[in-house]
Amino acid sequence: MKELALHILDIAQNSIVAGATLIRIGITEDMQGDLLHMTVEDNGKGMPSEMVERVMNPYTTSRTTRRVGMGLPLLHDACRAANGMLTIESAVNEGTRVLATMQLSHIDRQPLGDITGVIVLLFSANPSIDFVYSHIRNGNSYIFDTREVKELLEGIPLNTPEVIKSIREMIASNLDEL
Ligand SMILES: Nc1ncnc2c1ncn2[C@@H]1O[C@H](COP(=O)(O)OP(=O)(O)OP(=O)(O)O)[C@@H](O)[C@H]1O
Ligand SMILES: [Mg+2]
Repeated sequence: MKELALHILDIAQNSIVAGATLIRIGITEDMQGDLLHMTVEDNGKGMPSEMVERVMNPYTTSRTTRRVGMGLPLLHDACRAANGMLTIESAVNEGTRVLATMQLSHIDRQPLGDITGVIVLLFSANPSIDFVYSHIRNGNSYIFDTREVKELLEGIPLNTPEVIKSIREMIASNLDEL
């Protein structure tokens, strides 16, 4: 079974390909409302509305000469399997927002997986892109913002091994405390 963290990696990869310079990743776990929300929001090149339709329904668009990707459809399937849905909002030259919802307690809801590892991988492999990761669990929140960390580091690159290691530990322990 796939993990939600790996879906986030796929969806953020789309944002990177779309030329985003800022990518916001948000996860909300709400036990009371029995809801899980995941968002990936970027300032990349965006998509026209007919493109949004097409990426949401790849199975219905047979006979296209263009290759149809699987990142968004697989997340769409994961949402539906857990009583939720996928929404894509996009504007050309402005950016894209992908929102996935799921029923938190649903038996077929995929586990979160190694979200810390995915965030670390994203910012260390893409030093020129800024990432804001916010995680809300039952009203408690943690926000990691590469722009703030870069300022604190005063010129030391974010992707040096020591920095990566300490950021990984920082994110993991903050998530543990949520
Ligand atoms: N954030 C985004 N900004 C602009 N275009 C996007 C974005 N996300 C998806 N798209 C467009 O939708 C298409 C489908 O995305 P999807 O992730 O489903 O497949 P893919 O990235 O083409 O292939 P795969 O993910 O299987 O490697 C992309 O090729 C891209 O054209
Ligand atoms: Mg993709």
